[in-house]
Amino acid sequence: MSAVELADAGVLVTGAGGGLGRPLVEGLLAAGARVVVSGRTAPRIEGTHAVAADLRLPGEPERLVEEAVAHLGRLDGLVHAAGVVAFGPAVEADDDLLDELFLADVIGPVRLLRAAVPHLRQGRDAFAAVVTAVVAEKPQAGMAPYSAAKAALSAFVTALAREERATVRVIDVRPPHTETGLAGRPVAGSAPRLPQGLDPRAVADRVLRAITEGERELSSGAFASSQQS
Ligand SMILES: NC(=O)c1ccc[n+]([C@@H]2O[C@H](COP(=O)([O-])OP(=O)(O)OC[C@H]3O[C@@H](n4cnc5c(N)ncnc54)[C@H](OP(=O)(O)O)[C@@H]3O)[C@@H](O)[C@H]2O)c1
Repeated sequence: MSAVELADAGVLVTGAGGGLGRPLVEGLLAAGARVVVSGRTAPRIEGTHAVAADLRLPGEPERLVEEAVAHLGRLDGLVHAAGVVAFGPAVEADDDLLDELFLADVIGPVRLLRAAVPHLRQGRDAFAAVVTAVVAEKPQAGMAPYSAAKAALSAFVTALAREERATVRVIDVRPPHTETGLAGRPVAGSAPRLPQGLDPRAVADRVLRAITEGERELSSGAFASSQQS
């Protein structure tokens, strides 16, 4: 495994104002990276350049990548930490919910990767860390559309990682339940009683370690040491 230098790296972070995104941005900044942050609402994080983009909308992922490259001068890294969740019985998922979830959690991120990878190929120690979820490995009852969306993105990312093995390190990041508040703001349904989740900062630190230490995959098991104390 080779060590990756983040000092002066140009990195785009989606979902940057979120529970996982924010500590990821803070860790990247602490390591000396230059960071463009994004969300539907432009996050305000000192020391970063913000771009508002709704990944569900056609053309928006591509515009976001172009604006990030224009600001950074090049793209060395992408951290995709945007996403939404939904709960409820599989057969009760209506069309609006399916559209919302698959646009935000699959189509948007796929368009984002499609736009970013050609730039990343020109980057230094290039990486794309894509947060999918543990449900991509173990689909959960009451979370069928979310599980299916994350599994779809995970499959795309895994295939992309194989295609780009020699050029861009594409990392499928599959954390277990984490205390970011995501479960409390679903786009449909309401969360069942969930066990205590992981500490977002510990999860972010584990992702950053994977980036800097040259790891190529972060299964749910890789977060075993990120338990809440
Ligand atoms: N928390 C967990 O238990 C857990 C476990 C495994 C995986 N994950 C995944 O980790 C990622 C981050 O989740 P989180 O827990 O940090 O949740 P979070 O705190 O709700 O953050 C989600 C972020 O995604 C952004 N976002 C949502 N829809 C978007 C859209 N259409 N376009 C652009 N940005 C959008 C939100 O910003 P705006 O509202 O400004 O758009 C927000 O910053 C998600 O993909 C989630 O599925 C979470």
